[in-house]
Amino acid sequence: MNKYEALVNPSQNVFEQIVKFTGETEDWAFQLNDYKFWSTAFDRFWLVAVVEKGTENLVASVSLARWDGEDGPLYSVGMFYCVPQYRGRGLGKPIFQQIMDIVGDDNATLTGVVKMAHKYAKDFGFDKMPDFWHLFSGVKISEMTIPENLSEQFLSKAWTDVDYDALTTYDRTICTRDRKRIMTAWFNLQETFTKVVLDQSGKIVGYGTIRIVTRNKLSAAPFYADTLEAAEVLLKDLINNIPNWQQYEKIGFLYPEINSDVPRLLERFVKSKEAISTAPFIKSQFTKRFIASPNEKVYSMSDCAHQFV
Ligand SMILES: CC(C)(COP(=O)(O)OP(=O)(O)OC[C@H]1O[C@@H](n2cnc3c(N)ncnc32)[C@H](O)[C@@H]1OP(=O)(O)O)[C@@H](O)C(=O)NCCC(=O)NCCS
Repeated sequence: MNKYEALVNPSQNVFEQIVKFTGETEDWAFQLNDYKFWSTAFDRFWLVAVVEKGTENLVASVSLARWDGEDGPLYSVGMFYCVPQYRGRGLGKPIFQQIMDIVGDDNATLTGVVKMAHKYAKDFGFDKMPDFWHLFSGVKISEMTIPENLSEQFLSKAWTDVDYDALTTYDRTICTRDRKRIMTAWFNLQETFTKVVLDQSGKIVGYGTIRIVTRNKLSAAPFYADTLEAAEVLLKDLINNIPNWQQYEKIGFLYPEINSDVPRLLERFVKSKEAISTAPFIKSQFTKRFIASPNEKVYSMSDCAHQFV
């Protein structure tokens, strides 16, 4: 390791290299502001980066967030990455171990990519997990079309125009941990659009956020709805709310494969099914205790680096 050094909470410049590399080689979707967001929204946050010694040239990275709750702390591990030319030299594992030493005996979660999920379970104890994958579906925006004649039983509103306590209560039906502070900061991020869908009685039946992320893409993160009809209204209104949405290249959804309404939703918004490409992407893994969520309502999970739903 003498040609390299590990920095804890390095500069924004280092983070921007992580976003650039992970976008280019893994198709990960982040915003440049996410480092600041994680650092302020969570109770503690560590970004560990290996750089070429004496420089800020990125070699590898991993991040760790601590989110305190009534059930104690929950740690989440994200951004585990090594620049391709440095892979396979044992540079990634020590920083992964470094953050697992901080986790100690507390519960921790991560979204393990297909190639690594088994390794995280075997070597680091992330073995509490469902037997299904989360799929990633990317939709070509040039092939998108907004459907007509959607259900009139639902309407959407900006998140700032609904009863915020009711929105928080809805969110607790999706994520059992209290994340009001985290999600409020998330909704307030730049280039981030959030809408809430309500039924005719005014009851909240879903909400969704679409973020403009690097490489001219959109990311649905999160997108929750009680029914497919509510999801259709929400997606239509969310997309129409993004200025010049047609200029973006793709929009991505990351969802539990057991929610078969997600392909149905996406197919209603494209000219042909070929516009959608889908593949298994991650597994939601925990070390001590699996935290369940209502998969049938999850059309896309939120921040895939540091949330589990
Ligand atoms: C995963 C990654 C960060 C590992 O970095 P690295 O510096 O090459 O890892 P190391 O050389 O320290 O190896 C760590 C261990 O992971 C294993 N490993 C690394 N990449 C692997 C892969 N693609 N598939 C399976 N195992 C892999 C190594 O064999 C090694 O296991 P060992 O200790 O039993 O020998 C790197 O391959 C990478 O950036 N991959 C693309 C991004 C990614 O998928 N990140 C994981 C997100 S959940």
